[in-house]
Amino acid sequence: MEPQGQLDVKNSAHICVDIRVSALFKMKVLITGGCGFIGSNFIRYFNNKYPYYKILNVDKLTYAGNLENLKNLERKKNYRFVKVDISNTKAMKKIFEKFHPDAVINFAAESHVDRSIVTPAPFIKTNFLGVGVLLNLALKFQVKKFLQISTDEVYGSILRGSFTENSPVDPSSPYAASKAAADALVLSYYKTHSLPVQITRSSNNYGPYQFPEKLIPLTILNALSNKKIPVYGDGKNVRDWLYVEDNCEAIDIVFHHGVIGEIYNIGGENELTNIYVVKKILKLLNKDESLITFVKDRPGHDRRYSLSLNKIRRQLDWHPSKSFATGLKKTLEWCQKNNRWLKNTQSGEYRKFYRTHYSKLGLTGI
Ligand code: NAD
Ligand code: TYD
Repeated sequence: MEPQGQLDVKNSAHICVDIRVSALFKMKVLITGGCGFIGSNFIRYFNNKYPYYKILNVDKLTYAGNLENLKNLERKKNYRFVKVDISNTKAMKKIFEKFHPDAVINFAAESHVDRSIVTPAPFIKTNFLGVGVLLNLALKFQVKKFLQISTDEVYGSILRGSFTENSPVDPSSPYAASKAAADALVLSYYKTHSLPVQITRSSNNYGPYQFPEKLIPLTILNALSNKKIPVYGDGKNVRDWLYVEDNCEAIDIVFHHGVIGEIYNIGGENELTNIYVVKKILKLLNKDESLITFVKDRPGHDRRYSLSLNKIRRQLDWHPSKSFATGLKKTLEWCQKNNRWLKNTQSGEYRKFYRTHYSKLGLTGI
């Protein structure tokens, strides 16, 4: 039987050979942070495409991690979940000893910029020290691939033009700084120890299972319940929106065919102002623009993110395939069908953060 993954890879000869080689053995992949937004989408995508790989998902289950995101995988023989903090050296060592991963893909992170401004410690611990723990173990247990999931935010803001993978890092928020520091650490293990590492830096993702602290799901959630929609500053900050499935496809291609020791930008080629995005959602949901409420700006708020995709396009023949209109339509349909999931995310912790954060920014009637 042909491995499933072979059917939809790009059609260059060397790519097909790579896929055949990896299909020869049941690769064991340790995926961290797999209960979050991108990680859970990726595990579903990966398991579907490579059903003969074994996946171990290690997640701490912070407020952003949700076992429901992967409920349909629970009974699969080749998928396991363990609740562990990646910065816990002892527990992680046991996992490496037992599972002996061939590869590690690290999605685990504290990921919300606003939280990093108020409470940076968990960002430093997970995003930097946690990566250090994973790198040490990956080296000790001789993994064949360490893929670090990073972000375009490490480059900082750019008013004109786009960042290439050679642009210097210039992070603005404690979140972005912790990710940039982790990238430097990952690359140092390549230079010093020849650990086979790779880094992807993607732009803002959106799609199913995104926690509603981020702009798009927060706007959808609030609009559906006719609540005010907080827009920071003048609403003209620009983000490049990438549909999460496109990111999963690109990560998969980098993982299997990307060059070791390299960084790959992954973007959506959908650069839009926040106010445009919010108005578009309201229009599609048939809601009034009077819900929009401009609030105090985020400190250190990056004005514009923009990535050059020349490298991934040229080397790996990848480009994003979803337009913003298509991706947003799919996301809205998912949110409407999965209203219960969205509502369940609004735990006491969510409400507490929401109230404290947005009342400080001047949002009333929360
Ligand atoms: P998320 O916040 O939705 O999920 C993060 C997951 O990591 C959660 O399941 C959480 O429980 C887990 N986690 C947190 N700390 C942990 C720890 N110490 N040990 C083990 N697990 C832990 O984040 P996301 O949006 O899915 O982002 C995933 C990765 O992609 C992150 O590394 C983030 O920096 C990067 N990224 C995200 C975006 C985006 O737009 N969401 C864009 C570019 C890059
Ligand atoms: P966010 O989804 O937090 O992602 P990031 O800060 O990582 O880019 O924010 C996306 C953009 O939306 C960013 O410019 C900040 C803005 N924003 C608002 O205007 N209001 C909000 O309530 C949130 C959460 C974000």
